Amino acid sequence: MKIEIISDIEEMQAFSDGRRRQGQTIALVPTMGFLHAGHSSLMSRARQSGDILVVSIFVNPAQFGPGEDFATYPRNMKNDLSITGEEGVDIVFTPGDKALYPEGYETYVSLTNLPEHLCGTFRPAHFRGVATVVAKLFNIVTPHVAIFGQKDYQQLAVIRRMVRDLNFGIQIIGAPTVRDPDGLAMSSRNNYLTARERPAALSLYRSLMKAAQLVQSGVRDAARVIHAAAELIQSYADTKIDYVSICDPDTLDDVKTIDRPSLMALAVRVGKTRLIDNMILKP
Ligand code: PAF
Repeated sequence: MKIEIISDIEEMQAFSDGRRRQGQTIALVPTMGFLHAGHSSLMSRARQSGDILVVSIFVNPAQFGPGEDFATYPRNMKNDLSITGEEGVDIVFTPGDKALYPEGYETYVSLTNLPEHLCGTFRPAHFRGVATVVAKLFNIVTPHVAIFGQKDYQQLAVIRRMVRDLNFGIQIIGAPTVRDPDGLAMSSRNNYLTARERPAALSLYRSLMKAAQLVQSGVRDAARVIHAAAELIQSYADTKIDYVSICDPDTLDDVKTIDRPSLMALAVRVGKTRLIDNMILKP
């Protein structure tokens, strides 16, 4: 099937209805575009999980706070279409801002507890925006399965919880983080980094590796591991830590003693660029 671009919501719904009636399964990869190898890995995972592969490209204004990078978020539809073409995507769904959030729009999906942790404390309306747009995409594309990257761990947790709480009946798959050869987690925001800042961006991955080593060598005190990771990050120029946290992988509540698999998650500003990464620490 040749790749088809759909921007109209009713057309997307009609397409999915038709395919579902024929007994085909639909896999969705929601994205904000500026696609990279991390997205390609989500697409090939999705390819194995459904007959029809839909990739949505929409830079969602509702998940950006005031002063954040909505206006400057990188966009490159031509390159995105070449990547989706290579990955055998069937439909690229590209709704407009006005179509998804028309005049008078007032319905949002918000979770009570998960957004009170990690990135949610620094980006108060972010997960409300994410949950809302993902719920809308689920209602429009009606996928059987949707794939999200584990790099955005809290986002994946929020979406899994929303799907369970609101009975969406969609299978959610988390796909492993794809990294540059030196370990930097792939992200469209890496594009903001200057050549001078790029080495400091590696401090996130290095601090996770350092933490994993400490835990391997028997350290169980979360505060000690966090301190060592923070020290490593601060040893790089131009870094400012938003948070370094060790928490329960399900509730995201802080963990004091690493006596079971625990999530280490961090957000660091490198110059003006905010980067996140995470790893499960296994005692
Ligand atoms: O991970 C992203 O790119 C976005 O947060 C998502 C899931 C596409 C929602 O806008």
